[in-house]
Amino acid sequence: MPNTPEHWAALITSAHRIDTISSEQLLEDKVRNQALRLNLAGCHFDFTRQRVDGQILNELHDLARRAGMSTRRDAMFAGEKINTSENREVLHSVLRDGAPNAPDRYRQDVAQTKKLLFAAVDDIRSGNWRGFTNKAIKDVVHIGIGGSHLGPELVVNALAHLPGSENAPNIHFVANIDANDINTALLGLNPETTLFVVVSKSFGTLETQINAATARSWFLERTCNPKAIGQHFIGVTTNLEAAAQFGLEARNIFPLWDWVGGRFSLWSAVGLPIMLQIGTTAFEQLLVGAKQADEHFVNAPAEQNIPLLSALMATWNTTALNCDSLAVLSYDQRLALLPDFLQQLEMESNGKSVDRNGERLNYRTMQILWGGCGTNGQHAYHQLLHQGTSRFAADFIMVAGDSLKHKEHHQWLLANGIAQGQAMTLGHQPTSPSEQHKLVIGQHPSTSIVLDELGPIQLGCLLAIYEHKVFCQGVLWNINSFDQWGVELGKNLALPIFDQLRGDDTSNQDPATRHLIDHYRAINQS
Ligand code: F6P
Repeated sequence: MPNTPEHWAALITSAHRIDTISSEQLLEDKVRNQALRLNLAGCHFDFTRQRVDGQILNELHDLARRAGMSTRRDAMFAGEKINTSENREVLHSVLRDGAPNAPDRYRQDVAQTKKLLFAAVDDIRSGNWRGFTNKAIKDVVHIGIGGSHLGPELVVNALAHLPGSENAPNIHFVANIDANDINTALLGLNPETTLFVVVSKSFGTLETQINAATARSWFLERTCNPKAIGQHFIGVTTNLEAAAQFGLEARNIFPLWDWVGGRFSLWSAVGLPIMLQIGTTAFEQLLVGAKQADEHFVNAPAEQNIPLLSALMATWNTTALNCDSLAVLSYDQRLALLPDFLQQLEMESNGKSVDRNGERLNYRTMQILWGGCGTNGQHAYHQLLHQGTSRFAADFIMVAGDSLKHKEHHQWLLANGIAQGQAMTLGHQPTSPSEQHKLVIGQHPSTSIVLDELGPIQLGCLLAIYEHKVFCQGVLWNINSFDQWGVELGKNLALPIFDQLRGDDTSNQDPATRHLIDHYRAINQS
């Protein structure tokens, strides 16, 4: 029986109760604190600054049990078609060998593709892959958007410091249809030593199609050599036919599968730029970290299950405590793109308002996930967080190891990250009436995640934990976390507007849309 509003009733009652208990009081409970601190694969998860006590945790676990959490989890890992609106399995765990109960054919497809991928990566990194003038590849331009972009760029940036990255080509990312993206990427590149990787699960996404066509024109204008396309363009897609029609050679098209959602696909051929940046050995370590998260999710008891606890806290904060947003605050510049990645992972998955049966929901589901880098954010939006009227939760991501060997910098970075969480938790109550402008109420829930070091295993584990957190939240809210029908309307509305910007009749448009089209045409009438 999925969770109905009545099931939330006990939690709503507890939400009123917990409002009368300060975070200081919650933190006095040592047994509670110990139960809320967990370690996995070099990652430390500290939930003690969350606004829960033992009774609420029991109620949340009861909610998970009633929602059939473990049965739903096992169904996913076994390859049942839990993405019901698209009639698809959800088996991204197979990409890192984390789903032993899935049918063998999935693992065989992954193993076969990975072998071909790794061979290509090794050829490119070693210089064996030659362009049409027999020169090695120096620059790789990755063209893709959403799940075909965010994970790869995040991980390439996060792990660019790894040993061996000096053998990597220069990697450029092109996602937006704004020509600024591709113009910037192509600036100064030599077509003889440039390789384009076109990543699109559907091979039908407008931005990627337009960017890939522009890249192909750029290449042909400078080389006048259509036959060279095969040596300078790689495709990653489920749509092998469309990739071939674009002009890609079959041997350079790496498959994706419908049972891997775009936002869950960095572990697949979509992660080609990651492999190019860090090498295949380190990429295997990334997969190992994610596999450890898979095994933990399947085997750890509920009370020590990190993705489940993450989901219970996040759902409690959203649906019972009415937090309007989740701030992901990366206190490591190399993780600057983590909020962007998690925005798609969490908001495209759980930004839904109907349940798995198409019934409208009358409780709050995923709210806005946003974030940025500490300590910069402290000089931009932390004022609002500390003294504003917004109810929010925060995830602090920190790295304990000082890989840059700048002890003073690193300790100040960590001191600030820890202090900001302390301020959001405990606040500051001025004693004097004349000091009320310094009031910081605090009591904002947060989770602190501290990686021993920013390595492939730790990062793989962290990202997979968030993937499984998203799954658990979908179960609690009884929604399908794996489709994204909401993005289709805007895409379709853009089609006639594109033609109307170019002169087509606008009489069928609403007045606001028609005005903006007319204004554009007036400015650009020359
Ligand atoms: O944003 C919608 C979406 O379909 C995402 O789910 C996906 O990651 C992205 O567009 C790109 O899709 P594709 O990989 O098919 O180009």
